[in-house]
Amino acid sequence: MKKVTILIGSPRKNGNTRILAAEAERGLKEQGIATETVFLNDLKIRGCQACYWCKKNDVAECAVKDDMQKVHRLVQELDGLILASPIYFSTVTAQTKAWLDRMFPYVSMNLVPKLPASKKVSFIFTQNQPDGHLFESGIGSFMYAVGLSGLTVKDHMIACDLDTGVKPPVTEKKELMDQAYRIGKDLLR
Ligand SMILES: Cc1cc2nc3c(=O)[nH]c(=O)nc-3n(C[C@H](O)[C@H](O)[C@H](O)COP(=O)(O)O)c2cc1C
Repeated sequence: MKKVTILIGSPRKNGNTRILAAEAERGLKEQGIATETVFLNDLKIRGCQACYWCKKNDVAECAVKDDMQKVHRLVQELDGLILASPIYFSTVTAQTKAWLDRMFPYVSMNLVPKLPASKKVSFIFTQNQPDGHLFESGIGSFMYAVGLSGLTVKDHMIACDLDTGVKPPVTEKKELMDQAYRIGKDLLR
């Protein structure tokens, strides 16, 4: 059975980011793909300590023993990853950025990735601003950096004009719900 991990970078358990990620999960489950959702905000993940232990030993392992060890195990086992994060100050949340920095063990010194390209990743971003082009550069460099690990970047969506509790929930925006569903459905195709 194929496995997909869904990482949520929003601190809100029932915010729009989670709702869209659950819609992607529906697309995955319909194809018999096993999923596991992890809220990064529930984990204790320190920032990268720049010890270069992974580089000196040339291993895809991290010397920092915290909850990122669990995420590393998931990354080793998964066939696909959905990363869902709100945009905070033009880029992903701090929880999501901490995760990215701790993916450093999968990038060797000469930038040769350590994860096989058979593993796929797609992204769901949510933001308040209605203009989906506003944060493209921050989003683009984030996705590029994730790809340095070797994960093949498959697709992404930017869900705009969302503000949980202030604006209508994303469940009322069929186009965005459909887009998230397709992100899940197409991830491993
Ligand atoms: C600290 C903070 C910073 C934010 N910065 C931005 C921003 O730069 N641009 C934007 O469009 N929305 C910004 N937002 C709004 C969120 O990206 C948006 O409401 C998102 O959909 C929240 O996801 P959630 O429903 O999962 O909490 C910010 C929200 C917070 C709390």
